[in-house]
Amino acid sequence: MLKFEPTEAVIGARVSGIRLDTPPNPQEIAQIEAALETHGVLIFPEQDITPAQHIAFSGAFATLEKTARVSARLDGHPEIFVVGNVDGQVVSFAPADGSDDLEWHSDHMHLEVPARASMLYCIETPPEGGNTLFACMYSAFDALDPAAQAEAEGLTALHSVSGLQNFLQAKGAKGAAEGEYDSPEALTVRWPLVRTHPLTGRKALYFGSKVTIGIEGWSAPEADAFLTGLEVNATQDAFRYSHAWAPGDAVLWDNRRVLHAGTPFDMARYARRMHRTTWREDHPIA
Ligand SMILES: [Fe+2]
Repeated sequence: MLKFEPTEAVIGARVSGIRLDTPPNPQEIAQIEAALETHGVLIFPEQDITPAQHIAFSGAFATLEKTARVSARLDGHPEIFVVGNVDGQVVSFAPADGSDDLEWHSDHMHLEVPARASMLYCIETPPEGGNTLFACMYSAFDALDPAAQAEAEGLTALHSVSGLQNFLQAKGAKGAAEGEYDSPEALTVRWPLVRTHPLTGRKALYFGSKVTIGIEGWSAPEADAFLTGLEVNATQDAFRYSHAWAPGDAVLWDNRRVLHAGTPFDMARYARRMHRTTWREDHPIA
């Protein structure tokens, strides 16, 4: 029987009573979907799944997206996005300089069809660092005063992968090779800064600290200052859950409600290997 045990944070619950090596039955799907709405982040510890099982379990809930970074698709299983520093390739969204200037985002928010949820499975993790932080954007929106909420609801944010790439390069990462992406890097997409969750009706801030490159109709300095202030408030400790990974952990999160960010680790000393499935958005945002 499925059990959901909330974390101490405003988001997150640990899930027991299910093995991810078998596709879920309709009752399990309904319970997991309901719990995802309630908790935003679901942690399934002590799992042991192959890439095919990870895909089969995820595929019971959603159409799966392939990462645009072609070289990071797992051989033979292109629905798996390999994140980490293994097999001669570094795919990391944490600052390479080890700073706490983190890349908060919601997956695929820079694409025309974003991800509604993502499931990350840990195969190998460093003994320190390499956490994933999650922040609740319901809490962030609710904490704004009414005037700030009204202002935010009138704004449209602009998103592009170029914002992420500029950040990673400035922090010392080697950029992705020319032609490594199969989607146009210069694509800029526009989403309302406040989105209403299609299932709960609650309002959530929807922006990233690097991938969001501006506010429609605003000058760059104005937008930068506004977004920086918004990030500080929206990702404060009170709204966060920090996941320290152990091999066998699978974590599922609701990209409509939570932002996430990876924390740095010592890549010269340690290996980190994670597999992600990316669940295609199936409701319109605006
Ligand atoms: Fe991500």
